[in-house]
Amino acid sequence: MESIYLDNACTSFPKAPGIDQAAAMFLREQAFNPARGGYAGAIETGRILDRLREKLAKLVGSPSPGRVVLTSGSTHAINLCALGMFEDCARAKPRRVLVTSMTHNAITRPLARQASRGVIEIVEIPGDTQGLIEPSAIIEAIDERTALVCMTHASNVCGTIQPIGEVGRAIRERGLPALLLVDAAQSAGVLDLNVERDAIDLLAFSGHKGLRGPTGIGGLFVSTRAFDEKGEPSNQRLMPVLSGGTGGNTTEPIMPGGMPKRFEPGTPNTLGAAVLLAAVEAISDDERARSLAHERALISRLRERIGGTAGIRLVGADRVEDATPVQSIVIDGYEPTDIATILDQSFGIAVRAGLHCAPIAHATLGTLESGGTVRVSPGPHTTEQEIDHCADALREIATS
Ligand code: ALA
Repeated sequence: MESIYLDNACTSFPKAPGIDQAAAMFLREQAFNPARGGYAGAIETGRILDRLREKLAKLVGSPSPGRVVLTSGSTHAINLCALGMFEDCARAKPRRVLVTSMTHNAITRPLARQASRGVIEIVEIPGDTQGLIEPSAIIEAIDERTALVCMTHASNVCGTIQPIGEVGRAIRERGLPALLLVDAAQSAGVLDLNVERDAIDLLAFSGHKGLRGPTGIGGLFVSTRAFDEKGEPSNQRLMPVLSGGTGGNTTEPIMPGGMPKRFEPGTPNTLGAAVLLAAVEAISDDERARSLAHERALISRLRERIGGTAGIRLVGADRVEDATPVQSIVIDGYEPTDIATILDQSFGIAVRAGLHCAPIAHATLGTLESGGTVRVSPGPHTTEQEIDHCADALREIATS
């Protein structure tokens, strides 16, 4: 039985065209260590990182490529923020942090660690049962004591998109010190991102989901409000939490002041960078927009086919336009993980089920007690026939 892959929210598959050849070519001809030698190979490899930073800066609307720190993914990027914002305790005041009730553990856990050490106080802003947080609820909760507002752009559980721009602009208009950190793990390469338009201070993203690149590479956009080497101490709040060699300023025992090196110790993931660059270059903005429309149409089709079925509950935003293209589902009388096993073994369909590393989001959606949901997430190559096969399988399980 041919397998149908409907787990693109976990990691995209198939990946962008041509990235396998890019990986082979890099390993064969370019796998040198950048910034550690003046020979041609090392310089050329450095250029790959520069080109990737340029592409990623354009993708997130960063005014400069140097504001993009390369990381292993969004979790690494969020840790740099959740830990680095409060690293220098003398400078790290205030220490109140707002989160939403749709967060993934990538935000929950590093902040919980900080709270357990008494470093920060966490305030959670609740969302509704469709996973939407009213922007006014967040904006009203931000005060002079708030250091950081953490928002998940699109929920990995149900796709619901949060009003990041309204919150970001309100913080700036009111002249508040809080920084806005956006987890764009599920939205980079899927939704239009623009850190300037939406007044985002820190934006974390992965390369292996919507950007259709490899795992182990992603990035963090850092605004000058979060760290400005030449700015006021109040604009140097993000401190490096990882230290090591950068190929420069070698006699200094502390990390260099300049972006992005300050946050990038050690030999970078050059293979990941070369392959992600190939992925980003392979897909145009128009193609991304077409994929989004196609995948949302598939979600609508799935909803039409299973919506009225007794025992099946659709979870998430009512309108497909208010979410990234994923559909979470509960079937009465079944553990979500059992449904995933049946889908895999009897129907050849790969999905992710359970709590999706986001128990708080499931509590908000009312699906914690049922053991989470089954999540269907199509990709650009998913066909209507595959969605129909999935719908038939879900109906068969629900009615058996
Ligand atoms: N956070 C990823 C998911 O939602 C891995 O599956």
